[in-house]
Amino acid sequence: MRLGLGIACAKGMNYYETDRALAEYLLFHYGTPEAVLPFDPGPRAALEFPARCVSECLERDRLRPGARALDLGCAVGRATFELARHCARVVGIDWSARLIDAAQRLRRVGTLDFAYADEGDLTLEATARVPVTIDRRRVAFEHGDALNLRGDLGAFDVVLAANLIDRLEDPRRFLARVPALVAPGGQLILTSPYTWLPQYTPREHWLGGFERDGRRVKTLDTLKEILAPNFQLAACRDLPFLIREHARKFQWSVAEASVWNRR
Ligand SMILES: C[S@@+](CC[C@H](N)C(=O)[O-])C[C@H]1O[C@@H](n2cnc3c(N)ncnc32)[C@H](O)[C@@H]1O
Repeated sequence: MRLGLGIACAKGMNYYETDRALAEYLLFHYGTPEAVLPFDPGPRAALEFPARCVSECLERDRLRPGARALDLGCAVGRATFELARHCARVVGIDWSARLIDAAQRLRRVGTLDFAYADEGDLTLEATARVPVTIDRRRVAFEHGDALNLRGDLGAFDVVLAANLIDRLEDPRRFLARVPALVAPGGQLILTSPYTWLPQYTPREHWLGGFERDGRRVKTLDTLKEILAPNFQLAACRDLPFLIREHARKFQWSVAEASVWNRR
């Protein structure tokens, strides 16, 4: 099966259901370094973001045998597969049926052909491939809402929410559910560039990026306030990432990754 690149983001449509988002995320998660960034010099440290969310943030020594992981807002699932290198069972959940369909196909088949933007209407062909060193049978994907997760998910040894919180309508509601999702001694990995936008998150629900009582409110400080009763902040680091829009246009961002240990 080959996925095309046609309909643009229609007004009012969820961007993550569009052809464009699907192609961008397949390339972002599975593209070779040469396809994503065919220029030298360029921000190479920003490549392979979903894999680095796991390799740079997961505390592998603390995992018990048979560990379970959850990847919320998993998109097309690369970090979900990467978690399966270290965890026996991994669930990836995303609100976009389009992205979850692609992730499920990658789980079943291991590859997915797609077209991505080159210049104007021109596209290039590529194949997304799950690394053959990963056991895909450990992974399951499902369509779901991080703000309304099914009640029987249970508690996980690892919960990853990569670049999700600033795409939620009510991130506090999500964070209120998180303590029940992470087993005692488990790890919560949050990454975000804190790109707060009213079209995703009404201003009254932003966790940072505004002034209150003459004080500049930053997202990490709010996360500390919300999570402190149940979690200890174990590490904080910058995680750059690069999303290629077309051959000569890129989004270079730096997510803040915070790693929290469940008390
Ligand atoms: C910025 S993308 C990040 C995707 C992926 N984690 C990554 O780092 O590449 C945000 C993702 O969150 C998903 N998303 C947005 N709102 C969601 C919700 N309420 N529940 C689950 N997923 C959601 C989107 O469909 C999209 O795949």
